[in-house]
Order: sequence, then C-alpha cells, then structure tokens
Amino acid sequence: MTNVRKVLTVFGTRPEAIKLFPLVHALAADERFESRTCVSGQHRGMLDQVLEIAGIVPGHDLDLMQPDQTLDALTANLLTGIGRVLDAERPDWVVVQGDTATAMAGALAAYYRKIPVAHVEAGLRSGNIHHPWPEEVNRKIVGAFAALHFAPTETAAEALRRENVAPETIHVTGNTVIDALHWVTAKIEREPALAAGLADLERRFAGKRIIGMTSHRRENFGDGMEGIASAVRRLAERDDVAVIFPVHLNPNVRAVMNERLAGLDNVALIEPLDYPHFARLLAISTLMLTDSGGVQEEAPALGKPVLVMRETTERPEGIAAGTARLVGTDADRIVAEANRLLDDPHAYEAMAKAHNPFGDGRATARIVDLMAAR
Ligand code: UD1
Ligand code: UDP
Repeated sequence: MTNVRKVLTVFGTRPEAIKLFPLVHALAADERFESRTCVSGQHRGMLDQVLEIAGIVPGHDLDLMQPDQTLDALTANLLTGIGRVLDAERPDWVVVQGDTATAMAGALAAYYRKIPVAHVEAGLRSGNIHHPWPEEVNRKIVGAFAALHFAPTETAAEALRRENVAPETIHVTGNTVIDALHWVTAKIEREPALAAGLADLERRFAGKRIIGMTSHRRENFGDGMEGIASAVRRLAERDDVAVIFPVHLNPNVRAVMNERLAGLDNVALIEPLDYPHFARLLAISTLMLTDSGGVQEEAPALGKPVLVMRETTERPEGIAAGTARLVGTDADRIVAEANRLLDDPHAYEAMAKAHNPFGDGRATARIVDLMAAR
C-alpha cells in the first residue's frame, strides 16, 4: 500500500506505557501505519508490568535504567541510545507522551534528525519550573518543536496557544489514560483473577475504609516525603481506616517510607501493583492520597476523591470540578483534609461524584485519525 507512515513510539516509564499502550495497539492494527516501538527502559520492573499486561513486545529495548540514576547521565544515554534507533529505523513520525526524561530526549533526538514529533498529552503546565521538577521543563521542550500537539483538554490547548504554538497543530483529543482505564476495566471483567491479588488485604482490612496511596515526585524528596509519611502515621491511628500504599521503586521513596511506616497495623506497604491491581485498589478505596499525575486523572473518572500532595498541579480540571484538592505536603494539612472527608459525609459526597474532564475513552482513535490525515 502506498503512503503508509512508519511511526516509532518511544517510551520508558510506567505512566508513559499506560498512556501509550492503547495507541500502540491501535497503530499496529491500522493498515495506514507501520508501527514500531522503542522502550528506553528508564524504568524496568514498573515498565515491564505494563508491557506484560498490554501484550507489547518492544522492537527496541535500550534497557537504560541504573539504580538511583542521575538525570544528566540518564538524559545523555537516552539521547544517544534513541538517536541510534532513529538512524536504524528512519521513521516518518516519532510519538512521545508527557514529560519524562525519555519523552524529552526522544523528541529531541527526532528533532535533531528533522523527524516530526507527535506529542501525546501536550500542553500540561503548572506554571512553575520547580513543580513538578523536572517535568514542567521537559514538556515545554517538547512543546517547542512538536509538529502535532495532542492536548487532553481545552485548558491544555489554551496553554499551548499562549506559548505561540501554531493553532492548526493543536488538537484536543482527551487523555489516553481514560482509554487505558476502560481497556483494563473490561479486561478485569472478563478475567477477574487478573485483579484478585488484593483479596488478603481486603480481608485483613474488612470494615475499615481504605485510603489508596502513591507518592514518588522528585520535588517532594526530603521534607515533602517526611511530611507525607508523618501524615500517614497519624491517619493510621484511626481504627476505622487502613492505608494501602504500593511503594514506588525509586530508592529515595522506599528508604523514607520503609523507615517511617513499616510495621504499622493499619498500613500495608506493598510492592508496585500491576495495572489491573491498581485499578482494583482505586475501586476499593474511599479516597486517594497521591502526588501522581495519572492518578489525578483516573480517580475522578471512578468517583474517588483525590487529595493531591503537591503545591501546584498541571491538572486544574479536577480541582475546578471539585473532585480533587491540592493539599501540599504539610502533615497537619493532609491529616486535616483527609479527616474532613472521612468524618463529614457532605464534604465526601461533594467530592465523590464521578467526573471525567480528562477524556471520554476515545482519545486514541482521534489521535490515529489525526496522524493519518497528515
Ligand atoms: C520518572 C519520571 C517522572 C514520572 C515517574 C513515574 C523523569 C525525570 N521522571 O520518575 O516524570 O512521574 O517516572 O513513575 O523522567 N526504579 C526501579 N525500577 C523501576 C523504576 C524505577 O528500580 O521500575 C528506581 C531506579 O533506582 C531508578 C529510580 O527508581 O534509578 C528513579 O527512576 P527515574 O525514572 O529516574 O525517576 P522517577 O522518580 O521514577
Ligand atoms: N500505577 C500502577 N501501579 C501502582 C501505582 C500506579 O499501575 O502501584 C499506575 C496508575 O494507575 C497510573 C500510573 O501508574 O496510571 C501513574 O504512574 P506514576 O504515579 O508512577 O507517574 P505519574 O503519573 O505521576 O507520572
């Protein structure tokens, strides 16, 4: 067939894999495209969990993760490693997602070869280059030269227009994370065993309300993580509450959380969950405490209030809708906000409405059609 476009999708961490697997599936099934994948291996275990459940075997795997990797060494290796793959594959398009080091370096390596870049989840901005760090600058770098910007929301599209990005290159598609969530939910319905691994914890904590928790942001290392850990200790003193906390594999996170939270009756520190089990954790939780980006998008879609343990967010849509609240990393504030939700049914109901400002589950289909039209 003529005019088949060769697309190389480049990703490397858990959230990129989750938000890109629906697109990798769709490109592979569409005869208008020749689909290739390159994973940087910026994450290993957490990336592989997603590749396995999504059934993706990457065409290229740079396997770049090093223990506690520095940003400069990682970025240098990403640029040269992805550059070599681009020289071998010579794709017509490179797709990157979001704001990780892999996304930024993958896009830059493409730009250095004058290969057009399509940016999925474009236009998120907190307005503060230190929160989240270094993601705010990573995504601005990609936004400076991407040829197609797939903004999840109108707010994100507007942020790009304010930066003088050519309007005809910006498309509001919704966020592919909702597509991923729908996919995994349907898969669990067909195969419940895929998400049955929390049953022991569900029995142990029967009768208690579950707080689902994640934390990993670099700008929270140090005082922020200490504040988060002490908030969890205090919340776990309530006998009607239990915290289930799959701990990120970043050693900076694990050191603090293991030291401060191990051995508490009402806190389960567990290994990172694969995506079906994390979807199950969302489903059984009364509320989510998180500094994650993706969880801010998934929890409102399932009607779960989110307390965002950050100073700023690039996802203001959940705050505006009243399903998410910024609570920072100060222990007193986190505890007060969580207690308010746990003790005041009106406050809880006001936040627990299912709301989906981030997408309708059809973002991937829109992205594929927009790429085919180019
Ligand atoms: C990265 C992204 C961040 C994203 C997050 C998602 C950058 C700069 N940061 O942060 O935007 O929100 O991923 O989780 O791109 N590790 C493992 N196994 C894994 C994953 C990580 O052992 O599967 C450990 C390694 O020691 C690694 C360290 O975590 O060196 C840090 O990983 P890295 O990707 O550099 O940063 P994250 O903090 O995970
Ligand atoms: N997630 C997961 N298992 C976990 C924790 C999170 O599958 O134990 C998923 C979650 O559903 C979301 C994504 O990982 O889609 C968020 O990744 P992370 O918080 O690491 O990164 P961020 O979204 O902050 O970039």
